[in-house]
Amino acid sequence: MRYIKIYFLVALLAVSCKTIQETTAVKVPEQTIQDVREIQGGMWIPSLLEGMNESEMLQLGSKMTAKDIYDVNNSSLKDAIVHFNGGCTSEIISPNGLLLTNHHCGYGAIQSHSTVEKDYLTDGFWAMNYDEELSNPSMDVTFIKRIDDVTSEVFKGVTATMDEASKLKIINQNIEKVAKAAQKEAWQDANVKSIYNGNQYLLFVTETFNDLRLVGAPPSSIGKFGADTDNWMWPRHTGDFSMFRIYAGANNRPASYSKDNVPYKPNHYLPISLDGVEEGDFTLVFGFPGRTNEYLPAVGVAQIVNVLNPARIEIRDNSLKITDSFMRKDAEIKIKYASKYASTANYWKKWIGENQGIEKSNAIEKKCELEKEFTKIVNEKDLAGYKTLLSDFEKLYTEIESVSLAREYWMEVAYRNVELLGITFRAYQMEQAYLKGGEPAFTKAKEAALNRLAEIYKNYSATVDKPVFEKLVALYAEKSPSAYLPANMVNADFKSIANDIYANSKLTTFEGAEKLLTGTPAEVIKKLNEDKAYVFGKELHTIFYTKLEPKFQALNIQIEAVQKEYMKALMEVFPNNRFFPDANSTLRVTYGQVKGYEPKDGVYYSANTYLEGVVEKYVPGDYEFDVPKKLLDLYEAKDYGQYGENGKMPVNFIGTNHTTGGNSGSPAIDAHGNLIGLNFDRVWEGTMSDMNYDPDICRNIMVDIRYVLFIIDKYAGAKNLIDEMTLVHPKK
Ligand code: ARG
Ligand code: GLU
Repeated sequence: MRYIKIYFLVALLAVSCKTIQETTAVKVPEQTIQDVREIQGGMWIPSLLEGMNESEMLQLGSKMTAKDIYDVNNSSLKDAIVHFNGGCTSEIISPNGLLLTNHHCGYGAIQSHSTVEKDYLTDGFWAMNYDEELSNPSMDVTFIKRIDDVTSEVFKGVTATMDEASKLKIINQNIEKVAKAAQKEAWQDANVKSIYNGNQYLLFVTETFNDLRLVGAPPSSIGKFGADTDNWMWPRHTGDFSMFRIYAGANNRPASYSKDNVPYKPNHYLPISLDGVEEGDFTLVFGFPGRTNEYLPAVGVAQIVNVLNPARIEIRDNSLKITDSFMRKDAEIKIKYASKYASTANYWKKWIGENQGIEKSNAIEKKCELEKEFTKIVNEKDLAGYKTLLSDFEKLYTEIESVSLAREYWMEVAYRNVELLGITFRAYQMEQAYLKGGEPAFTKAKEAALNRLAEIYKNYSATVDKPVFEKLVALYAEKSPSAYLPANMVNADFKSIANDIYANSKLTTFEGAEKLLTGTPAEVIKKLNEDKAYVFGKELHTIFYTKLEPKFQALNIQIEAVQKEYMKALMEVFPNNRFFPDANSTLRVTYGQVKGYEPKDGVYYSANTYLEGVVEKYVPGDYEFDVPKKLLDLYEAKDYGQYGENGKMPVNFIGTNHTTGGNSGSPAIDAHGNLIGLNFDRVWEGTMSDMNYDPDICRNIMVDIRYVLFIIDKYAGAKNLIDEMTLVHPKK
């Protein structure tokens, strides 16, 4: 918590390049030095690796060709990489469709099979044969069968003189046509996605399976060891893995769940290396990174770092502190809020690290230098179309600043962190549905709202929520731009408002909410508009929908159009630079090396951790740092089997692979295409890699695959799973 204060001292204004250049002078790095640091970073399209990427990978020690990684006609690494339930990555590690991903990616599934008597989250779960595997009806996994460049088809009929709206209209029509015409099997899907901010378009042919069964998970004291305290941190000691199996119909094609389905036969599965990793080894991470913003102008980064992140951090800081104080004194509240708390804390902590990293790596100053150079070349070459891009950004970001900030307050306070206001938002959507679509729309919206509300109230406590309301709404009134503040929040006494709302609203319990939502649409809406919480929330939601969001979207479309031109311009003006497309949940390859780092002066973190570190962190009975007895016994006996290394058990390691959210569960692959680790996090000092990858301090964190095998074999005794895998010795 002590880290946060620093950021609130930073002026709440986007810093323009001019001010920065006056205070600091940073040299643009020479673009031509062929230092290995310069051939790292970037998330590349697997079908476009031939040429530069292939040669860089060879320089870093890879023995693979581009075709070993991605091939359409022969099996290749990509056939083993699977998008896991839309958000994470997973990989096939046996000829029988055995799938490996993170514990935090399988968490929901593990939780859904857990009861007080059979608590798989606490004790772990291991299927000793196919029959013991557990089905997960609402989950699915997706393979990428083929990637085609369809840019020219998508741009057909678009001319330079068209306005942005007309261009987008034709582009969207073309995308639909291309997807429809795509060559694919009946059970496959095709979709088109843009890369480089709309300058290039790719078609993805995919295959989705939804008979997915839980095979194994370690206890949380291994799979989530260190929990929130260690999250985003190095040195790390977490066994963050779980296992599933894909089932298919008798013809090996996707089929909905049936007990007659059979284990899926993959085109490729990853052999697993028993030889471990050391500093300098080549590593490749293959997966589905979600979102990065690597080509924002300096003014855009400054806005995030100086305006938006501090607001989000302050809001969550308050919400977390209040929630934590209740969790510590009440066991029931602790369980109810555990998952919400973890997810709120996850990005809270990430943003703090991101801001520190941007500052430490002088990212904004570096962007300013690049922009100076850009302007110089554009003027020299008289590239008329690019001359106003930076001033357009400056103007638009200035204009959007208060809108974005107000939007952030609405999102974080009225939608996310004050749960009662989030509940009023569901009700507000119902009222809107009625006004727009009459009774049928209302009935549909009500059903959706009730389903969602049932989930929300399961883990809701008005006792916790009330002080969060009081604190966060006051913060909103004080700090959100006044142009978007409802009249009832100006100079208000939030203590008495909170007392009144939480004493009188029917929406503080599910029973109350159900009663409120019973009756004809007109009756329900009348009752809602007499409810204290609803009336308060409705003001905020109305302003959001009528003033805030339209203004934001109008400006954002313009920013995106400038960003698209700017991306194109950067590639033209700096033809020798490495430009990788920002992440957008499409399949990517990133490569680098196993490498330690220096987080601050005089401190060096080495690249590997061992079971010794788990024991050092062990706090008996603690909810984050407890260690299972059996693991301690194995440690005492040094019983590591074929998985240990010189009498020690490796646990985690770090590398220079450029990853982001969505890369969780991605395989770390060695120079020969064998599995060596499982990606699950990044180091705190380097979370700014989403805006500015810096090979000096950006590191991804992986579980050493030998720790995974050791837990499966020695800890859980699930030899049946080890027997399915192919274990290899590439270094011997
Ligand atoms: N920081 C990792 C990621 O962004 C892990 C999150 C899950 N673990 C946790 N302790 N909340 O998703
Ligand atoms: N834990 C993240 C995830 O769930 C990956 C860490 C990161 O953001 O790099 O995808």
